[in-house]
Amino acid sequence: MESSCKVNTIRCKWANYINYTYIISKAGTRECLIVDPAWEIKKIISYLSLNNLTLRAILLTHSHYDHTNLVGALVNAFDTEVYISGIEAKQYRYKCKNLHYAENLELLPLSFFKVRAFLTPGHTLGSMCYLISNHLFTGDTLFYEGCGICDTSEAASNMYDSLQFLKDTISEDTIIYPGHCYGVYPGEPFGSIVKDNIYFHINDRQKFIDFRLNVAKKNLFDFK
Ligand SMILES: [Fe+2]
Repeated sequence: MESSCKVNTIRCKWANYINYTYIISKAGTRECLIVDPAWEIKKIISYLSLNNLTLRAILLTHSHYDHTNLVGALVNAFDTEVYISGIEAKQYRYKCKNLHYAENLELLPLSFFKVRAFLTPGHTLGSMCYLISNHLFTGDTLFYEGCGICDTSEAASNMYDSLQFLKDTISEDTIIYPGHCYGVYPGEPFGSIVKDNIYFHINDRQKFIDFRLNVAKKNLFDFK
């Protein structure tokens, strides 16, 4: 396992939106990756320049505007590559300069970084999580407190499969970095989330679907 990756967590805010953007760097190189760049470009640029980092690629967990709104500015400034799942880009017509489609289970060709892409539909049809050494970036698929909003029964059924997949695939000591947090700061081990997150404890597909859709009817950001 690669152990030399460093993750810098940036809390980015605009109006009522709070997103978490992550910059991943690696000892011995000047390159870095960024996940879901949002809202506050000054924070991102100053971290890059203070640490003398070159932006190698942008990884997008999905196409929602609150996760992608700084892509254009960063691509213009650094001419960097951008990755998103092919399904997501096609389904929601997401476009930008230097865009590449990532496929499920693909190891992305990012020189110093080994990035494994996992397709985890549910919140959107082409949501992706990215595993970089023992860090998993989950976007709006998985939060410490719950999982992302699902619009339909089909989406909730997909989310059920995606969470089961993560449970079967991700080791307990993997550190989880979600796109938002609702009380617990990013950076908890997957084992704690599996223990505390109610969506890992509903082992019947239909009950999971009903629960996710009913909870969202009361309050979008209530998870229980
Ligand atoms: Fe989203």
